[in-house]
Amino acid sequence: MQKQKNIQVKDKTFTISIPESEIRQQIKRVANEINRDFAGRQPVFLAVLNGSFIFAADLLREVDLPCEISFVKLASYQGTSTTGSIREVIGLNIDITDRPVIIVEDIVDTGLTMAHMLETLQNQNPSSIDICTLLLKPTKLQVKLDVHYCCKEIPDDFVVGYGLDYDGFGRNTKDIYTIV
Ligand code: IMP
Repeated sequence: MQKQKNIQVKDKTFTISIPESEIRQQIKRVANEINRDFAGRQPVFLAVLNGSFIFAADLLREVDLPCEISFVKLASYQGTSTTGSIREVIGLNIDITDRPVIIVEDIVDTGLTMAHMLETLQNQNPSSIDICTLLLKPTKLQVKLDVHYCCKEIPDDFVVGYGLDYDGFGRNTKDIYTIV
């Protein structure tokens, strides 16, 4: 079937930038790295909702290790500190003490979300924490962050599709699209 070059999500137009075939290929590559690096261990994958739901489903089916998966969400609320919005990790209903943890994220932009996740998870004494992201915008990073597994680095442009949204919409496409 002919791929749609441009899509409309609410008031914005997006053009195809990462086709499904490339996403699949990169996920296989990253899964192979994880299979190699975690051989003999039983990692816990922690997928960050909502954006990573499709990525996590495809990644896990390429992982051939004995492993568990759990889903966490970040709730934003207005804090009293000067930083304004504080994000709380909710839904971590699995004991990660002494377990190798792999965070599964859709996109790392400023890196602030991942920095906060790392801080929260470290309090639970896992044996290791690695970050696995579908996309990374290296020029936007505001914090020093070790991103161990990354399917693709992209320029600083807003993207949708394959789980990523614009204002809640646009998650349900097989390809990834960049804003025009
Ligand atoms: P960070 O804390 O700035 O790294 O932001 C990470 C979160 O921002 C991601 O989990 C996404 O939910 C959202 N985000 C950042 N860039 C994009 C984008 O280009 N498209 C859709 N969501 C994005």
